[in-house]
Amino acid sequence: MDNEIRYSIIDSTNNEAQRQIQNGVAPKGDFVIRADFQTDGRGQRGNTWHSPNATNLMFSYVYFPVKLEARHQFMLSQAAALSVAEYLKGKGVNDVSIKWPNDIYVGMKKICGMLIENTVSGHYIRYSIIGIGVNINQTQFPENLPNPTSLTIHTGKQYNLDEEFSTIIEILRQKIYDISTTNADSLMKKYKSVMLGLDKTLIYRSGGKVFKGIIRDVDHYGMLTVEDAETHEAQQYAFNEVNLVIPEQPKENI
Ligand code: BTN
Repeated sequence: MDNEIRYSIIDSTNNEAQRQIQNGVAPKGDFVIRADFQTDGRGQRGNTWHSPNATNLMFSYVYFPVKLEARHQFMLSQAAALSVAEYLKGKGVNDVSIKWPNDIYVGMKKICGMLIENTVSGHYIRYSIIGIGVNINQTQFPENLPNPTSLTIHTGKQYNLDEEFSTIIEILRQKIYDISTTNADSLMKKYKSVMLGLDKTLIYRSGGKVFKGIIRDVDHYGMLTVEDAETHEAQQYAFNEVNLVIPEQPKENI
């Protein structure tokens, strides 16, 4: 990738991308900010994202679509999630899935999280900062993380981060580029084929309620339809309104 800026330490690659654009110093066109270490890595729902120095991949891919309506922003989530899933499958990892909307899981464990921040102008996305953290070489995790895993844990190998970064970026760049020409239905079909919990009974939490539910659908706006396995009533949820409850996982620190 030509437009790649690397930091050994930064607060958050998403923040740095935003600053560079706002200060008018960003490279022209799409670019990537990558860091070995983040002091203020951000996750979804106001969470933090911690990663030891130079152990995992942390980067923000900044995309300036020519014409992408803001109401189609879920396509960015889908393309980014499918890219990391494809990368991991290419590394020989089995049982890779996308936990709606864009976490990547191996079995019931999380290997990658994304924080996608879109800036909208009128009906269109002006730019999208696609922040991605993928656990690559990490084998020890803090006790308070419920279900982390990494590529090394699944393959037993150590990886050169520069090489893995290039591989992921190539896949991501292609899939993001394809958004402008791909039909939304075919992207959806691919997304659903990798989705965790589709047509399966799992435990969900929504508000104060914990229930057995079955994901029945996800629409083009990213709304999730979950059927209550007992009452058979189906309800639509936006991101943040429903959460998969992960059963206690054996710790994998090695
Ligand atoms: C989540 O699972 O909650 C999302 C985690 C996103 C982490 C990545 S690491 C690179 C980029 N910079 C950030 O501050 N966050 C994202």
